[in-house]
Amino acid sequence: MEFRTIIEPFRIHSVEPLHLTTPEQRAEAIRAAGYNLFNLPARDVIIDLLTDSGTGAMSRDQWAAIQHGDESYAGSPSFELFRDGVRELFPFEHVIPTHQGRAAEKILFGVLGGPGRIIPNNTHFDTTRANVEYTGAAAVDLVIPQGRDPASRHPFKGNMDVSALDALLSEQGDSVPCVMLTITNNSGGGQPVSLANIRETSEVAHRHGKPLFLDACRFAENAWFIREREPGQSDREVSDIVREIAGLADGMTMSAKKDPMGNIGGWLAVNDDALAQQCRALLILTEGFPTYGGLAGRDLEALAVGLREAVDHDYLRYRIRSTAYLGDALAQRGIPVVQPIGGHAVYLDARELLPHLDPLQYPGQALAVALYEAGGVRGCEIGTVMFGRRPDGSEQPAALDLVRLAIPRRTYTQSHIDYVIEVCEQVAARAHDLPGYRIVEEPPVLRHFTATFAQMSG
Ligand code: F0G
Repeated sequence: MEFRTIIEPFRIHSVEPLHLTTPEQRAEAIRAAGYNLFNLPARDVIIDLLTDSGTGAMSRDQWAAIQHGDESYAGSPSFELFRDGVRELFPFEHVIPTHQGRAAEKILFGVLGGPGRIIPNNTHFDTTRANVEYTGAAAVDLVIPQGRDPASRHPFKGNMDVSALDALLSEQGDSVPCVMLTITNNSGGGQPVSLANIRETSEVAHRHGKPLFLDACRFAENAWFIREREPGQSDREVSDIVREIAGLADGMTMSAKKDPMGNIGGWLAVNDDALAQQCRALLILTEGFPTYGGLAGRDLEALAVGLREAVDHDYLRYRIRSTAYLGDALAQRGIPVVQPIGGHAVYLDARELLPHLDPLQYPGQALAVALYEAGGVRGCEIGTVMFGRRPDGSEQPAALDLVRLAIPRRTYTQSHIDYVIEVCEQVAARAHDLPGYRIVEEPPVLRHFTATFAQMSG
């Protein structure tokens, strides 16, 4: 590279205004939202880093593809474009569109889950865990120990602990219908899984006669990390790495709201004919006919284009570098962040930044609320609020208390991110004064979406 600055490899084609608010307005808005950032009206948020899911900017070519959508109920040519786009990267036999990732999970575990079953994964994302547990099955996280240590610099902290997986399959294999692998490992900090580890996970699963399914939301970012960090991979096309990964698995669940650049969408793909038939039967029950599965023809077209853009090297270089730009700047200012910086998000270590709060006083929630009040920046607690309530009703601290600043794709510029850095710096300087929270009301599952909180005094 001749120049140090990695520019956004696009220019702005259509703009969306931001609604700027005052600290007083934000204090009132978050109080009215019960201190839950999910309850905030989005217009009261200045920089929205709640999620990278469905919040990215579509390209000119995706918008053009939208116009090309064919809305036939059955056999739409838009489905064929979508299916072929998916199979170009993930050559599975059956591609079943769903309205988003969790619908694919609900269908897959509706067939494979059930009481007494065990689903291992490196780390289940919250909806994946909830969909497994909803069927009565147990969701087991088997990420390598470094994946649980926010300070470890392991280059592939999303890796599966393959010896733990082997032991589980040896001891309780009869209860395990499949092995899952999440690339990148979102709940563990957006950390990648190495190609070597995917090969080993595939070998162990298949030696025990179990199919391997990918939760592949951020497959392109994962493949870029493989290209950057794994010996012998630096000359490969990302699309080629993705195809190799797909070839090691027997199917996948997918949220097309992440790397495929969609505002909505997902799919389930499998090789097994009988499993596909069972899944399609459930699909028709809740999602729709198998050639649209809960999506409009135009959505399918936009995804077919987005999939090609997702594996573009100029895009991925910018994507991964711009996320690291935020993370590195925070680390340089002494703010504890999960290292190395992940692909789609920067994770602040709230437990370390707010040591005066017990995990059951929700340090992640406290930090996320403070970032909003200070600068209108909306992040997301990934910690004890999200994972602390066990299926048996007890409450325990999660492994980590993090605040995720997720970066929507192609949406914010470097000056937006410079502003976020300033907001974080200002809040970190008074971290020891931030109050803890208690839960006022919560639903029985996925409580973080709708719980309401109150500040703890003194
Ligand atoms: N798996 C992973 C690893 C995810 O990150 C998500 C969603 C899903 C499955 C479910 O997909 O939302 O389309 O139903 N993650 C979003 C996030 C919500 O903010 O990380 P979905």
